[in-house]
Amino acid sequence: MQDWGLARTLKPGYRALFYGPPGTGKTLTATLIGQAAQVDVYRIDLSMVVSKYIGETEKNLARVFDQAQSRRWVLFFDEADALFGKRNSNNQSANDQHANQEIAYLLQRVEDFPGTVILASNLRSNIDEAFARRFQSMIYFPLPDAEQRLRLWRGMLAPQRLSAEVKLDEIAERYELSGGAIANVLRYAALLALRRHSEQISAAELRQGLVKELRKEGRTL
Ligand SMILES: Nc1ncnc2c1ncn2[C@@H]1O[C@H](COP(=O)(O)OP(=O)(O)OP(=O)(O)O)[C@@H](O)[C@H]1O
Ligand SMILES: [Mg+2]
Repeated sequence: MQDWGLARTLKPGYRALFYGPPGTGKTLTATLIGQAAQVDVYRIDLSMVVSKYIGETEKNLARVFDQAQSRRWVLFFDEADALFGKRNSNNQSANDQHANQEIAYLLQRVEDFPGTVILASNLRSNIDEAFARRFQSMIYFPLPDAEQRLRLWRGMLAPQRLSAEVKLDEIAERYELSGGAIANVLRYAALLALRRHSEQISAAELRQGLVKELRKEGRTL
Protein backbone atom coordinates (compact mmCIF):
# COMPACT_ATOMS: atom_id res chain seq x y z
CA MET A 1 0.00 0.00 0.00
CA GLN A 2 2.83 2.39 0.89
CA ASP A 3 5.14 1.47 -1.97
CA TRP A 4 2.42 1.75 -4.58
CA GLY A 5 1.05 4.99 -3.23
CA LEU A 6 -2.34 3.43 -2.60
CA ALA A 7 -2.40 3.93 1.14
CA ARG A 8 -3.96 7.37 0.79
CA THR A 9 -6.85 6.07 -1.27
CA LEU A 10 -7.58 2.56 -0.10
CA LYS A 11 -8.60 1.29 3.27
CA PRO A 12 -6.38 -1.50 4.52
CA GLY A 13 -7.82 -4.98 4.81
CA TYR A 14 -9.75 -7.27 2.52
CA ARG A 15 -13.39 -8.27 2.72
CA ALA A 16 -14.89 -11.27 0.98
CA LEU A 17 -18.45 -12.53 0.87
CA PHE A 18 -19.20 -16.23 0.35
CA TYR A 19 -22.78 -16.85 -0.68
CA GLY A 20 -24.82 -19.74 -2.00
CA PRO A 21 -27.12 -22.58 -0.96
CA PRO A 22 -26.60 -24.55 2.27
CA GLY A 23 -24.00 -27.30 2.36
CA THR A 24 -21.91 -26.08 -0.57
CA GLY A 25 -18.68 -25.64 1.39
CA LYS A 26 -18.63 -22.02 2.51
CA THR A 27 -17.69 -22.77 6.10
CA LEU A 28 -15.27 -25.47 5.02
CA THR A 29 -13.52 -23.10 2.62
CA ALA A 30 -13.07 -20.41 5.25
CA THR A 31 -11.28 -22.91 7.48
CA LEU A 32 -9.13 -24.18 4.61
CA ILE A 33 -8.05 -20.65 3.78
CA GLY A 34 -6.75 -20.33 7.32
CA GLN A 35 -4.82 -23.57 6.89
CA ALA A 36 -3.40 -22.54 3.54
CA ALA A 37 -2.33 -19.11 4.79
CA GLN A 38 -1.15 -20.43 8.16
CA VAL A 39 -3.30 -18.05 10.13
CA ASP A 40 -6.00 -18.63 12.69
CA VAL A 41 -9.58 -18.19 11.59
CA TYR A 42 -11.87 -16.86 14.27
CA ARG A 43 -15.44 -17.90 13.55
CA ILE A 44 -18.37 -15.93 14.83
CA ASP A 45 -21.83 -17.33 14.29
CA LEU A 46 -23.83 -14.18 13.74
CA SER A 47 -27.17 -15.85 14.13
CA MET A 48 -26.13 -16.34 17.74
CA VAL A 49 -24.82 -12.83 18.23
CA VAL A 50 -27.20 -10.36 16.67
CA SER A 51 -30.05 -9.22 18.88
CA LYS A 52 -29.88 -12.16 21.30
CA TYR A 53 -27.94 -10.40 23.97
CA ILE A 54 -28.96 -6.83 23.52
CA GLY A 55 -26.38 -4.34 24.70
CA GLU A 56 -23.78 -6.98 25.37
CA THR A 57 -23.31 -7.58 21.67
CA GLU A 58 -21.41 -4.44 20.82
CA LYS A 59 -19.07 -4.88 23.73
CA ASN A 60 -18.39 -8.49 22.78
CA LEU A 61 -17.86 -7.63 19.15
CA ALA A 62 -15.53 -4.78 19.99
CA ARG A 63 -13.40 -7.18 21.99
CA VAL A 64 -13.26 -9.68 19.15
CA PHE A 65 -12.24 -7.05 16.60
CA ASP A 66 -9.52 -5.68 18.87
CA GLN A 67 -8.06 -9.10 19.55
CA ALA A 68 -8.27 -10.15 15.93
CA GLN A 69 -6.38 -7.06 14.87
CA SER A 70 -3.50 -7.59 17.26
CA ARG A 71 -3.24 -11.32 16.55
CA ARG A 72 -3.68 -11.22 12.79
CA TRP A 73 -6.67 -13.52 12.78
CA VAL A 74 -8.94 -13.91 9.81
CA LEU A 75 -12.38 -12.94 11.03
CA PHE A 76 -15.08 -15.21 9.75
CA PHE A 77 -18.70 -14.20 10.25
CA ASP A 78 -20.73 -17.30 9.56
CA GLU A 79 -24.49 -17.31 9.00
CA ALA A 80 -24.29 -13.63 8.21
CA ASP A 81 -27.86 -13.50 6.89
CA ALA A 82 -28.80 -11.88 10.17
CA LEU A 83 -26.85 -8.88 8.94
CA PHE A 84 -28.51 -8.52 5.59
CA GLY A 85 -32.06 -9.26 6.54
CA LYS A 86 -33.04 -6.66 9.06
CA ARG A 87 -31.24 -3.57 8.01
CA ASN A 88 -33.86 -2.00 5.80
CA SER A 89 -36.99 -3.20 7.47
CA ASN A 90 -39.46 -0.67 8.76
CA ASN A 91 -40.92 -2.72 11.57
CA GLN A 92 -39.64 -0.71 14.45
CA SER A 93 -40.10 -2.62 17.64
CA ALA A 94 -37.54 -1.71 20.29
CA ASN A 95 -35.84 -5.01 19.59
CA ASP A 96 -35.54 -4.34 15.87
CA GLN A 97 -34.17 -0.88 16.44
CA HIS A 98 -31.58 -2.31 18.70
CA ALA A 99 -30.67 -5.00 16.21
CA ASN A 100 -30.34 -2.38 13.47
CA GLN A 101 -28.02 -0.37 15.65
CA GLU A 102 -25.87 -3.39 16.30
CA ILE A 103 -25.77 -4.24 12.63
CA ALA A 104 -24.70 -0.71 11.74
CA TYR A 105 -21.96 -0.94 14.33
CA LEU A 106 -20.80 -4.28 13.04
CA LEU A 107 -20.71 -3.09 9.43
CA GLN A 108 -18.61 -0.13 10.43
CA ARG A 109 -16.14 -2.36 12.21
CA VAL A 110 -16.01 -4.77 9.29
CA GLU A 111 -15.31 -1.88 6.95
CA ASP A 112 -12.55 -0.48 9.15
CA PHE A 113 -10.90 -3.78 9.99
CA PRO A 114 -7.31 -3.74 8.62
CA GLY A 115 -7.12 -7.51 8.16
CA THR A 116 -9.08 -10.15 6.29
CA VAL A 117 -12.80 -10.55 6.90
CA ILE A 118 -14.93 -13.29 5.37
CA LEU A 119 -18.71 -13.30 5.62
CA ALA A 120 -20.85 -16.30 4.70
CA SER A 121 -24.52 -16.16 3.83
CA ASN A 122 -27.18 -18.20 2.07
CA LEU A 123 -28.98 -15.24 0.64
CA ARG A 124 -27.95 -13.14 -2.25
CA SER A 125 -31.19 -11.27 -2.83
CA ASN A 126 -30.99 -9.47 0.48
CA ILE A 127 -27.61 -8.03 -0.18
CA ASP A 128 -28.10 -4.55 -1.48
CA GLU A 129 -25.71 -2.52 -3.55
CA ALA A 130 -24.52 -0.37 -0.71
CA PHE A 131 -23.47 -3.54 0.95
CA ALA A 132 -21.88 -5.12 -2.11
CA ARG A 133 -19.61 -2.12 -2.49
CA ARG A 134 -17.96 -2.98 0.80
CA PHE A 135 -16.67 -6.34 -0.46
CA GLN A 136 -13.58 -6.77 -2.56
CA SER A 137 -14.86 -10.12 -3.72
CA MET A 138 -18.21 -11.86 -3.74
CA ILE A 139 -17.87 -15.55 -4.34
CA TYR A 140 -20.78 -17.73 -5.32
CA PHE A 141 -20.82 -21.32 -4.08
CA PRO A 142 -23.10 -23.21 -6.49
CA LEU A 143 -24.61 -26.62 -5.95
CA PRO A 144 -22.33 -29.29 -7.40
CA ASP A 145 -23.08 -30.78 -10.84
CA ALA A 146 -23.30 -34.54 -11.39
CA GLU A 147 -19.59 -34.97 -11.98
CA GLN A 148 -18.71 -33.00 -8.87
CA ARG A 149 -21.28 -34.95 -6.86
CA LEU A 150 -19.59 -38.18 -7.90
CA ARG A 151 -16.28 -36.80 -6.67
CA LEU A 152 -17.91 -35.85 -3.39
CA TRP A 153 -19.46 -39.31 -2.94
CA ARG A 154 -16.17 -40.99 -3.78
CA GLY A 155 -14.04 -38.68 -1.71
CA MET A 156 -16.02 -38.97 1.50
CA LEU A 157 -16.03 -42.73 2.07
CA ALA A 158 -13.34 -45.39 1.86
CA PRO A 159 -14.40 -47.41 -1.22
CA GLN A 160 -14.26 -50.79 0.54
CA ARG A 161 -16.96 -49.58 2.92
CA LEU A 162 -19.52 -49.53 0.15
CA SER A 163 -21.23 -52.68 -1.08
CA ALA A 164 -20.35 -53.55 -4.68
CA GLU A 165 -24.05 -53.40 -5.64
CA VAL A 166 -24.08 -49.63 -5.11
CA LYS A 167 -23.70 -47.67 -8.34
CA LEU A 168 -22.36 -44.34 -7.16
CA ASP A 169 -22.26 -42.82 -10.63
CA GLU A 170 -25.98 -43.43 -11.06
CA ILE A 171 -26.72 -42.01 -7.63
CA ALA A 172 -24.57 -38.96 -8.30
CA GLU A 173 -26.32 -38.40 -11.61
CA ARG A 174 -29.81 -38.82 -10.24
CA TYR A 175 -29.85 -36.96 -6.93
CA GLU A 176 -29.11 -33.27 -6.85
CA LEU A 177 -27.56 -32.93 -3.44
CA SER A 178 -25.08 -30.54 -1.90
CA GLY A 179 -21.82 -31.78 -0.38
CA GLY A 180 -23.31 -31.24 3.06
CA ALA A 181 -26.37 -33.35 2.17
CA ILE A 182 -24.16 -36.13 0.76
CA ALA A 183 -22.21 -36.15 4.03
CA ASN A 184 -25.50 -36.49 5.94
CA VAL A 185 -26.62 -39.42 3.81
CA LEU A 186 -23.32 -41.21 4.39
CA ARG A 187 -23.39 -40.57 8.12
CA TYR A 188 -26.86 -42.03 8.44
CA ALA A 189 -26.15 -45.03 6.20
CA ALA A 190 -22.90 -45.75 8.05
CA LEU A 191 -24.73 -45.77 11.37
CA LEU A 192 -27.29 -48.20 9.97
CA ALA A 193 -24.52 -50.49 8.74
CA LEU A 194 -22.70 -50.35 12.08
CA ARG A 195 -25.88 -51.17 13.91
CA ARG A 196 -26.13 -54.47 12.10
CA HIS A 197 -22.39 -55.03 12.65
CA SER A 198 -21.66 -54.81 8.96
CA GLU A 199 -18.37 -53.75 7.42
CA GLN A 200 -20.15 -52.20 4.47
CA ILE A 201 -23.02 -49.90 3.64
CA SER A 202 -25.62 -51.77 1.58
CA ALA A 203 -27.64 -50.30 -1.28
CA ALA A 204 -30.75 -50.39 0.92
CA GLU A 205 -29.03 -48.45 3.69
CA LEU A 206 -27.76 -45.83 1.31
CA ARG A 207 -31.27 -45.55 -0.05
CA GLN A 208 -32.67 -45.02 3.44
CA GLY A 209 -30.15 -42.26 3.98
CA LEU A 210 -31.17 -40.66 0.69
CA VAL A 211 -34.87 -40.86 1.56
CA LYS A 212 -34.26 -39.22 4.91
CA GLU A 213 -32.15 -36.41 3.46
CA LEU A 214 -34.48 -35.71 0.55
CA ARG A 215 -37.46 -35.65 2.87
CA LYS A 216 -35.79 -32.88 4.88
CA GLU A 217 -35.79 -30.80 1.73
CA GLY A 218 -39.39 -31.71 1.03
CA ARG A 219 -38.48 -34.08 -1.79
CA THR A 220 -39.05 -37.77 -2.35
CA LEU A 221 -36.98 -40.46 -4.03
N1 LIG B 1 -16.96 -28.52 -2.35
C1 LIG B 1 -16.85 -29.38 -1.33
N2 LIG B 1 -15.79 -30.22 -1.25
C2 LIG B 1 -15.68 -31.09 -0.25
N3 LIG B 1 -16.57 -31.24 0.74
C3 LIG B 1 -17.64 -30.45 0.71
C4 LIG B 1 -17.84 -29.49 -0.32
N4 LIG B 1 -19.01 -28.85 -0.08
C5 LIG B 1 -19.51 -29.37 1.03
N5 LIG B 1 -18.70 -30.35 1.51
C6 LIG B 1 -18.96 -31.17 2.68
O1 LIG B 1 -20.17 -30.72 3.25
C7 LIG B 1 -19.97 -30.27 4.57
C8 LIG B 1 -20.83 -29.05 4.81
O2 LIG B 1 -20.28 -27.95 4.12
P1 LIG B 1 -20.24 -26.50 4.78
O3 LIG B 1 -20.66 -26.58 6.20
O4 LIG B 1 -18.93 -25.88 4.48
O5 LIG B 1 -21.40 -25.81 3.92
P2 LIG B 1 -21.91 -24.31 4.01
O6 LIG B 1 -21.86 -23.80 2.61
O7 LIG B 1 -21.17 -23.58 5.06
O8 LIG B 1 -23.43 -24.54 4.41
P3 LIG B 1 -24.41 -23.55 5.22
O9 LIG B 1 -24.81 -22.47 4.25
O10 LIG B 1 -25.56 -24.45 5.55
O11 LIG B 1 -23.67 -23.06 6.41
C9 LIG B 1 -18.49 -30.02 4.68
O12 LIG B 1 -18.03 -30.20 6.00
C10 LIG B 1 -17.91 -31.06 3.75
O13 LIG B 1 -17.84 -32.30 4.40
MG1 LIG C 1 -21.81 -22.82 6.89
